[in-house]
Amino acid sequence: MSILVTGGAGYIGTHTCVELLKENYEVVVIDNLSNAKKEALNRVEKITKKPIKFYQDTVLNESALEHIFQENRIDCVVHFAGLKAVGESVSNPLLYYENNVKGTITLLKVMKKFNCKNFVFSSSATVYTAENPILINEDEPLGANNPYGRTKLFIEYMLKDLYASDSSWNIAILRYFNPIGAHPSGLIGENPNGIPNNLMPYIMKVATGELPCLGVFGDDYDTPDGTGVRDYIHVVDLAKGHVLAIEKYSEPGVHICNLGTGVGYSVLDIVKAFERVNGVKINYEIKDRRPGDIATCYADPSRAKKELGWVATRGIDEM
Ligand code: UFG
Repeated sequence: MSILVTGGAGYIGTHTCVELLKENYEVVVIDNLSNAKKEALNRVEKITKKPIKFYQDTVLNESALEHIFQENRIDCVVHFAGLKAVGESVSNPLLYYENNVKGTITLLKVMKKFNCKNFVFSSSATVYTAENPILINEDEPLGANNPYGRTKLFIEYMLKDLYASDSSWNIAILRYFNPIGAHPSGLIGENPNGIPNNLMPYIMKVATGELPCLGVFGDDYDTPDGTGVRDYIHVVDLAKGHVLAIEKYSEPGVHICNLGTGVGYSVLDIVKAFERVNGVKINYEIKDRRPGDIATCYADPSRAKKELGWVATRGIDEM
């Protein structure tokens, strides 16, 4: 079975390619390398000792996609390609709507043309409204609060409409919580361009001395130590969730599933674990709250267990 992985050279993409190759899927990647390097795919091949067919292009390029479907018999598409920086999406929303929404429309049109109707979408916990209960299940109300989040939400609605129009589509929507960590080989991991927005890559750049100090955004939240609490999930667990989604969601439908652990850790829990496991000191200072952040957010992961037989097995120290 042949899987097209869009954005396959990125952080979650590369880890998913490893797990797919380990399960003997053939993997074809399209990535424009805007926030990734080809070297990451070479390393996936090194880890798995299996080849990847790579196309450097964007999912906005309809003829490039058609060319891929002509050259390969694609059975299923796992769609990661997209932009994901919340702040950038606020200052440049059209870039986000074009890349994420138009890119997905272009991809789905080509899939339809080639009668490939198995689709796994990389969604996010950001599609839940901030007013939700602390333990979020898939039926909670939706409503993103920034352009990046809205692109994910609009794509979810689009996928539901697509299925309503043609019930032969088999669509999995996976809502990730906070993926962190790296492959145990040490060969692949998260390495964003520029100054990181997210906690873990920022901590790593402080650890390596590339940045002087971590800003902790608020210590006056209603949480055990006052810093924000999130559901961090190891990227290898997350990647395995995608393989299971391909296998278990084998019937047409729109299958929506959280991928999280159901356990929350604070910013300072993460900093302390990082220091303990790696034997390094992380300089940090308490800053103001970051606009748009909430105190606590973690997944009810019970549907993933029931429908996919999936549970996260890697804890905070491995992350
Ligand atoms: N944080 C800091 N300092 C930093 C970066 C983050 O203190 O330099 C804190 C945040 O305030 C928050 C926690 O660390 O409490 C996690 O922040 P991240 O930016 O790592 O992650 P978010 O929870 O804000 O967002 C992540 C993804 C989004 C996704 C969202 C879904 O980055 O893409 O989860 O909930 F939409």
